Amino acid sequence: MRRNLVAGNWKMNTSFREGISLAKEIVGSIESKKPEILIFPSFIHLSEIQNNVSGHFIQVGAQNCHHKASGAYTGEISAAMLQSIGISHVLIGHSERRNYFNETDDILNAKVQRALEASLQVIYCCGEPENIRTKGQHIDFIQHQLENVVFNCSKKDLEKITIAYEPIWAIGTGKVASPEQAQEVHQSIRSTIQTKYGEDAAHSIRIIYGGSCKPDNATALAQQPDIDGALVGGASLNATDFISIVNAFV
Ligand code: PGA
Repeated sequence: MRRNLVAGNWKMNTSFREGISLAKEIVGSIESKKPEILIFPSFIHLSEIQNNVSGHFIQVGAQNCHHKASGAYTGEISAAMLQSIGISHVLIGHSERRNYFNETDDILNAKVQRALEASLQVIYCCGEPENIRTKGQHIDFIQHQLENVVFNCSKKDLEKITIAYEPIWAIGTGKVASPEQAQEVHQSIRSTIQTKYGEDAAHSIRIIYGGSCKPDNATALAQQPDIDGALVGGASLNATDFISIVNAFV
């Protein structure tokens, strides 16, 4: 049976002190070992936050990694560097990286490969812009994002990947996808995985939802059969709100 996952993407927020105190507040509020909890602080806070949460059922991931294994790439951080400080997960394909940093599917595919080589688990984000949804082409659009980046992985590698469906029009806008809209996409992703990788892979892969997930909409999302957790941006910066979303996915 899949275990739900709730992840907090802190983006470019919190000072060092604020990040540590947010992590400690989350640790202090966890009521149950379910679901799995993951936080994505800034690169430079990863180690210290990892020290503060270790042993408390919270895992720490990075928001990005470079698509090359090592070399002359001033200012960049490799997947192996993350692994070497004990980081377990990396977020790849977030729409903010695609849009503001021109990350193409080819680059994202290389990032996924580097992450898997470094034994990191991947949270791969996909999702359509509003105009694509308006035209009713969202399922095909997401299918391509998956096809180009993760569906060339082996079945074994797919076990290390969680898919996050994040409609771009819902990110940071307060405009959450309805539970039915999200379920339609999650279900279609799972059925494609069933066709490509078989029933056990489709059954075990986690597909989480992101985009204005808040305490007041998390329960309805959590009730959908193919929604296995949430990737939370804004609401993950408040420990009470984040834990309330966590509790919706117990
Ligand atoms: P949001 O962000 O919850 O603030 O909409 C989600 C995300 O970007 O992962």
